[in-house]
Amino acid sequence: MDKTTTLLFFLFTLFLTTSISKELCHRDDKNTLLKIKKSLNNPYNIIAWDPKSDCCSWTAIECGNATINYRVTSLDISDDQISGQIPPEVGDLPYLQTLIFRKLSNLTGPIQPTIAKLKYLRFLRLSWTNLTGPVPGFLSQLRNLEYIDLSFNDLSGSIPSSLSLLPKLGYLELSRNKLTGPIPESFGSFKGEVPDIFLSHNQLSGLIPKSLGNLNFYRIDLSRNKLKGDASILFGAKKTTWYIDLSRNMFQFDISKVKIAKTVNILDLNHNGITGTIPVQWTELSLQSFNVSYNRLCGRIPKGGDLQRFGSDSYLHNKCLCGVPLKTCM
Ligand SMILES: *[C@@H]1O[C@H](CO)[C@@H](O)[C@H](O)[C@H]1NC(C)=O
Ligand SMILES: *[C@@H]1O[C@H](CO)[C@@H](O)[C@H](O)[C@H]1NC(C)=O
Ligand SMILES: *[C@@H]1O[C@H](CO)[C@@H](O)[C@H](O)[C@H]1NC(C)=O
Ligand SMILES: *[C@@H]1O[C@H](CO)[C@@H](O)[C@H](O)[C@H]1NC(C)=O
Repeated sequence: MDKTTTLLFFLFTLFLTTSISKELCHRDDKNTLLKIKKSLNNPYNIIAWDPKSDCCSWTAIECGNATINYRVTSLDISDDQISGQIPPEVGDLPYLQTLIFRKLSNLTGPIQPTIAKLKYLRFLRLSWTNLTGPVPGFLSQLRNLEYIDLSFNDLSGSIPSSLSLLPKLGYLELSRNKLTGPIPESFGSFKGEVPDIFLSHNQLSGLIPKSLGNLNFYRIDLSRNKLKGDASILFGAKKTTWYIDLSRNMFQFDISKVKIAKTVNILDLNHNGITGTIPVQWTELSLQSFNVSYNRLCGRIPKGGDLQRFGSDSYLHNKCLCGVPLKTCM
């Protein structure tokens, strides 16, 4: 080999070795992830977590950029053959922003308390698992949380009122659990923006807090609980609400004078104790989905707008509603 070739060969080798050995993954994060893998009994999807390779390239993992030294920012374990509890070591990934455990029917135990250490956490989804115990109050200490989805689990107890203190919360979904007790009064004064709220399929009871009337929810779903009181406070001509589902509760109020925001697109009030007549103003709504069946409504269904687009299914089982699509009024 002549000098140039030797030099080129040398440079090429240098390039190869540095590019191969340049591992972005932080050593502490790699150790933690390997502990997590072990404590989950080396499950199938993450079995490929090879200690010899860069953890930033592993499935279910994402790392941040150079600003935070490529620390692990996202852990997403979904659809895997996992049995046992959420490993306490998840609390030792200090730069985690996204944490997901989803569709793991054998994931049991409580929501891991060490999650309280994840102060950069923005997105938390623990969903379609068999987690039990309460919705932990410590979540309100994680001030960067924007998104909480704890739906489809076996969580019980009441909803912590401190969740309203989260300054960046935009989405709160606690549907399909076994939650009891009332909707916290504090949910009428969120510190930050007004989040979308999904609380359906629980056993929530008590009166809907009047304070909720102060807020302009974009989406609110309280369906399939045992809630009582005057839920008409959620409506209001000046609001910009899009989605309201109050179905299958025990709400009682007179709708005769209730104005609804023109932005409302999905309105489900079925199975409650709602009285009065449907206001003519409701013909001004653009409705994609509408259901007032199984209430105690009376009088003529106003003609016009979208109200006749829906079949009798949407109006059946009221006290004395009449007019299209139901029978002609006497
Ligand atoms: C790098 O990450 C930091 C912290 O997450 C973030 O604030 C910054 O915008 C990122 N920079 C780039 C160029 O993406
Ligand atoms: C859950 O555990 C049961 C009993 O050990 C097992 O038969 C089943 O395959 C497991 N399911 C999943 C999705 O891991
Ligand atoms: C919880 O476990 C039960 C029985 O093991 C199972 O039938 C159910 O599908 C699981 N729930 C979820 C959401 O995976
Ligand atoms: C309205 O709700 C009732 C009761 O749950 C249901 O039977 C009916 O199918 C619903 N109608 C529509 C159009 O969704």
